[in-house]
Amino acid sequence: MNLFDVYPINEVTIVKAKGSYVWDDKGDQYLDLYGGHAVISIGHTHPHWVNRIEEQLEKIAFYSNSVRIPLQAELAEKLGRVSGKPDYQLFLCNSGAEANENALKLASFHTGRKKVVAFSKAFHGRTSLAVSVTDNKNYIAPVNETENVIFLPFNDSNALNDCFENEGKNIAAVIVEGIQGVGGINVAGDGFLKSIRANCDKYGAVYIADSVQCGYGRSGKFFSHDFAGVSADIYTMAKGMGNGFPVAGIIIAPHIRPKLFQLGTTFGGNHLACAAALAVLEVMEEEKLMGNAVMTGKYLRDELEAIPVIENVRGRGLMIGFDVPEKLKDLKKNLLLNQKIFTGEAKPNVIRLLPSLALKKKDAEQFIEALKEEIALLTQAPSE
Ligand SMILES: Cc1ncc(COP(=O)(O)O)c(C=O)c1O
Repeated sequence: MNLFDVYPINEVTIVKAKGSYVWDDKGDQYLDLYGGHAVISIGHTHPHWVNRIEEQLEKIAFYSNSVRIPLQAELAEKLGRVSGKPDYQLFLCNSGAEANENALKLASFHTGRKKVVAFSKAFHGRTSLAVSVTDNKNYIAPVNETENVIFLPFNDSNALNDCFENEGKNIAAVIVEGIQGVGGINVAGDGFLKSIRANCDKYGAVYIADSVQCGYGRSGKFFSHDFAGVSADIYTMAKGMGNGFPVAGIIIAPHIRPKLFQLGTTFGGNHLACAAALAVLEVMEEEKLMGNAVMTGKYLRDELEAIPVIENVRGRGLMIGFDVPEKLKDLKKNLLLNQKIFTGEAKPNVIRLLPSLALKKKDAEQFIEALKEEIALLTQAPSE
């Protein structure tokens, strides 16, 4: 049987990982500033994370949500405290798309309405509702096409106000990334997020903060929406939540009450996933990783801004993007091949940095040196 070939892949086979480094099957070491799409939060194979999962595996790996799972309550308590949302309610699932799917469905149940507002360049996942609010026609199958989604320009409060004036009583939810990831690291303005909050309050719609990529401390605050000083009604999270163990969830404001059977999942919130998620929060606290994201992120952005050919350095914490001119279009590829550094990209010519929140300054320095070297090679005049 062959694999169903849907991924453009780098020809590298990773067999081992530790902290911010991975090794291929030939023994070559790579610096990982991508974390497999922003997933590695506390560092690859962190010893506490490995121990917690191993210990749990020896006891019980899985039972379904038909019984009490005290680890879920432990996770909810810890997540509530670390995220600053102790009065919210946690629903656990398995992936970012599923988290958004549940959030949108819950918003519709809660309001009894059908319309959802989403924004240009948004990415919310590949499943049915999640992909319908994703701004990329290539991902949307005919069955996902719906008239219930209204796309508006990102960061445009006037367009949002107009839309609510016309459609307000039909809008169930607004879904927005605090920092767009796949769209190219675009930071939502504080005023824009405040206007989402105000419109949702005025018209009774649900504010969904997609924090799958920009959440879990990556921006330097637990949720990037926190920078605007607003609280969303539902936050969705995945990626960094398990540091590579598949676990996701939504946290739900207290005014949205649960009803039996409205949401459900077989695997969500299983014992192993909870152990992994608890280990992540414990390490984040113990090693003060949000502080490190602020510090190392600032160092990287300052250094990047000082490199003349690099344009429009943006982002927060350790979620950083920058544009490279056409002549540097091979930069990402060359960083991987020549310097053995993984970075991410977004089209056209955007490089994305999404390293572990434990990235060390010396690793950031190594990246900046390597980047300068590769830029020099690509910009030097061709030899006669
Ligand atoms: C902002 C955002 N939302 C949702 C998703 C979907 O997550 P998953 O791939 O786990 O379904 C992603 C994945 O990249 C994402 O970046």
